[in-house]
Amino acid sequence: MLEIKKSISESIAQGIKAINSDASLEISDIASMLEYPPDEKMGDLALPCFKLSKTLRRSPVQIAQTLADGMSTPCVARAEAVNGYLNIFLDGAYLASRVIPETRAKGDKYGAPTDLGEGKTVVLDYSSPNLAKPFHIGHLGTTVIGHSLKMLHEFAGYKCIGINYVGDWGTQFGKLIVAYKKWGDREKVENGGVDALVELYVKINNAISGNEEEGISADPTLADEARAEFLKMEQGDEENLALWRWLVKLSLKANDEIYRQLGITFDSYKGESSYTEGMPVQVQRLRDKGLLKIDDGASIVDLEEYGMPPCLILKRDGSSLYPTRDIAAAYDRKQMYDFDKSIYVTSAGQSLHFAQWFKVVELMGYDWFDKLVHVPYGTVSINGAKLATRTGNVILLRDLFALAIEKVAAIMEEKNPNIENKEKTAEAVGVGAVIFYYLSNNRIRDINFVMEDALSFDGNTGPYVQYTYARTCSVLSKSGEYDKNAELLITSEDETSLLKTLSRFEEVVRDAIDAYEPSIVTRYILDVAGAYNRFYHNCSILGAENEQIKNTRLAITEATKTVLGNAFGLICLKKTEKI
Ligand code: ARG
Repeated sequence: MLEIKKSISESIAQGIKAINSDASLEISDIASMLEYPPDEKMGDLALPCFKLSKTLRRSPVQIAQTLADGMSTPCVARAEAVNGYLNIFLDGAYLASRVIPETRAKGDKYGAPTDLGEGKTVVLDYSSPNLAKPFHIGHLGTTVIGHSLKMLHEFAGYKCIGINYVGDWGTQFGKLIVAYKKWGDREKVENGGVDALVELYVKINNAISGNEEEGISADPTLADEARAEFLKMEQGDEENLALWRWLVKLSLKANDEIYRQLGITFDSYKGESSYTEGMPVQVQRLRDKGLLKIDDGASIVDLEEYGMPPCLILKRDGSSLYPTRDIAAAYDRKQMYDFDKSIYVTSAGQSLHFAQWFKVVELMGYDWFDKLVHVPYGTVSINGAKLATRTGNVILLRDLFALAIEKVAAIMEEKNPNIENKEKTAEAVGVGAVIFYYLSNNRIRDINFVMEDALSFDGNTGPYVQYTYARTCSVLSKSGEYDKNAELLITSEDETSLLKTLSRFEEVVRDAIDAYEPSIVTRYILDVAGAYNRFYHNCSILGAENEQIKNTRLAITEATKTVLGNAFGLICLKKTEKI
């Protein structure tokens, strides 16, 4: 589409010259004025001519008419002037002659804007759950948005390093150690794994804050005990450190299964605990630069001038804090990877934290401060219920996936009981449904997760698009070999419309990277699936009027399969050949 926009813009530029020979506009400026009309009937592309009125000193109506009359380029079937808009209809045969050979030649690279990332490195910090706490639905966002951003950047030619900056350090371990020492049982925890840990974690939080329903009164001294246990860890107490290593191992193991289901791997698991040693250097630099202030015993960086509350660097007892570790980790990553961009995906609740320590990095004089990017996302609730780990009301991601898989398996049993690899497919579709539903949303918007909506096979869902992918596979396997050298013949609007959608892929990928917004890809997948299904229902493929039309439709089906497959890869959706 980019090329198409370019050649249309060239033709428009000539028209503009004809109106006013002094007017000079860059082709790229004209290209960026081209819009996709809201309704296909109004054209495939449109130029709002009021944007040229001032330069050309003509009315938009006159300009549109002149440009429509002068439009001549092989990609345009016709151009119309309507109310000051130049409406452009693309030529199906031209689109086919571009899209079909290109999807064939590029295959799994079709749509990749490789010029973007060549020679550049991106570090992505995502998922990064706090260990010792349950991996719950609130972590879904950072995990799938982060992975999707990694896939998008990789597709665009960047060298990517995905880091799971696990929260393996902090007071939550103090709490868990108190709970374990009070109520724990080694064997029970060893065998119970994450469930046993969650139980202890919930119990200690209830004990600290009290729980009226269960008749537990609050005991804040336990919070002090937890802090003391954590401080002992920071001071190198071997008993606590041994417990800590064991708890970390158990938590990591539990999370592995989630990552396997999602098909996500990381390049590094360097977590918060790795930065105890790197921190003092940064604290010293802050001190040397005169940035540290003592406030009520704690060390802070005053950010009032920048309209933010102070950034806490060291607690009163000298123990480290979240921002301090982030600064040390960012420095380490810059040394290790020399990134061109360093991306952090977390809930919007942490936006202030990132704004603060990014500012501190800038004040410290690190010239890479402007390469740090925070990508926030909204909250998730399930059917209205807010999710919190501190109470018993947690929805584990594992349980959510299990429920989705079970429901999909039941639907499949009804629709297609004889399919091979039943379990694997049910997992791909069940987990895919959750991911797709999640990534359909603009990331910053809060989501209320409704399972029935996510799993429906005919709504705008994961199962629906995976089913469409399987449909392209089934058409191609039924047809067997077909003549790929035969000349293409476009005979229907539905073919043109689908080809036009396929040709937009690269632009979509660019937009998604630009906005750090995987939902742009998700919505595009729905456009492709919709266009393919309309084509499939209205145009007979295997029973087409003649061989040439049939070959063309098979080629279009194959191009669709390539585009859907490539786009699925960008949002962690598995390619299901049969459902
Ligand atoms: N562990 C943190 C949490 O669960 C998220 C870490 C995000 N990454 C970072 N570099 N701060 O809230």
